[in-house]
Amino acid sequence: MSPKQEVLNVGIDLGTSRSSISASNGQKHLVESFVGWPLDMVARKVLKKDVLIGKEALENRPMLDLHRPLERGLIKEGSDRDDEAVRELLKHLLVLAGAGPEERGDLKIRAVVGVPAEALRANKKVLRNALKGLVDNTIIVSEPFAVAYGLEELLHAMVIDSGAGTTDFCVMNGRYPTDEDQRTLTQAGDSVDEQLATMVGEKYPDAKFTVHMVRDWKEQYSFVGSPKKAVKVTVPVEGKPTVLDITAEMRAACESLLAPISETMLDLISRVEPEYQERVRQNIILSGGTSLIANLGTTLQKELDQVGGGRVRVVKDPVYVGADGGLSLATDAPESDWEKLPA
Ligand SMILES: Nc1ncnc2c1ncn2[C@@H]1O[C@H](COP(=O)(O)OP(=O)(O)OP(=O)(O)O)[C@@H](O)[C@H]1O
Ligand SMILES: [Mg+2]
Repeated sequence: MSPKQEVLNVGIDLGTSRSSISASNGQKHLVESFVGWPLDMVARKVLKKDVLIGKEALENRPMLDLHRPLERGLIKEGSDRDDEAVRELLKHLLVLAGAGPEERGDLKIRAVVGVPAEALRANKKVLRNALKGLVDNTIIVSEPFAVAYGLEELLHAMVIDSGAGTTDFCVMNGRYPTDEDQRTLTQAGDSVDEQLATMVGEKYPDAKFTVHMVRDWKEQYSFVGSPKKAVKVTVPVEGKPTVLDITAEMRAACESLLAPISETMLDLISRVEPEYQERVRQNIILSGGTSLIANLGTTLQKELDQVGGGRVRVVKDPVYVGADGGLSLATDAPESDWEKLPA
């Protein structure tokens, strides 16, 4: 008999804007979910690389064919580049954790991968293909479930994970969640950015700005409810740096999330067994980058007053909570829960 093969467990959170890995060797890494290929021979000569990932890809975007592997909660598939983008991103995360194809040797790699709930339904095949040869075994789960597992909130809890591409919901009933326990909305960070860009463009037609600038403004000044102070940003208008007041636009763009999130939250609560609804209402967890919008948690909590009250808390460190949850799952999962991938 051969000696027992060494195993590395990893949790991967595959996100629209950021992806992270947390491995049983203690490695933790975060990358922006962007993959880019040099546009031509000149770009390749300047960049000295065949493919760029993460921040490096974003910073060099004028020289690249830039791809985001996920959009609106789905893994993009169809074109070769789309299929390759998700594989390159996964490979990069594994390389960062010291488990890339070249350095892994005969290490057995088991990966729990968290994706938006919709991708779990629609994109399992493309994800399995992307993982082939990179890892030996996988369990693909929804992002909010990975978060719930990481926080050990497995019973009578609801996780609302609001990221860039989607807001994902998962009710925990003390077992693996089913489709009925989960929902996905495309109202999330990216849709706020789009609305904010449109509204600012309408109010100040001569102002020049990019979606990247709009995202920065949002990350600095986002809020719902009454403003604490005016939101002012500086942008070029006819070439001249000009201060613009975007308070009302910021509020309206961020508040566009309130109705869809609170409706879905209340609907999911109404489907919980009546005797447990109160406990779920008292245990709602908001995670993901978009949970950082000022007052979002307290405003959603107020919505619970119409059904008897409850509590919404915002996760303190949303960056690695999904990847860490995936790693805990990988550590706990029995052999029979793993899917074996061909080499
Ligand atoms: N301080 C902040 N205020 C408001 N939004 C923020 C803040 N910081 C980050 N965000 C937004 O959070 C989003 C990224 O969150 P997160 O990393 O959870 O998403 P993701 O996991 O990549 O996406 P998804 O889960 O939808 O696939 C982006 O839209 C980003 O602009
Ligand atoms: Mg996410």
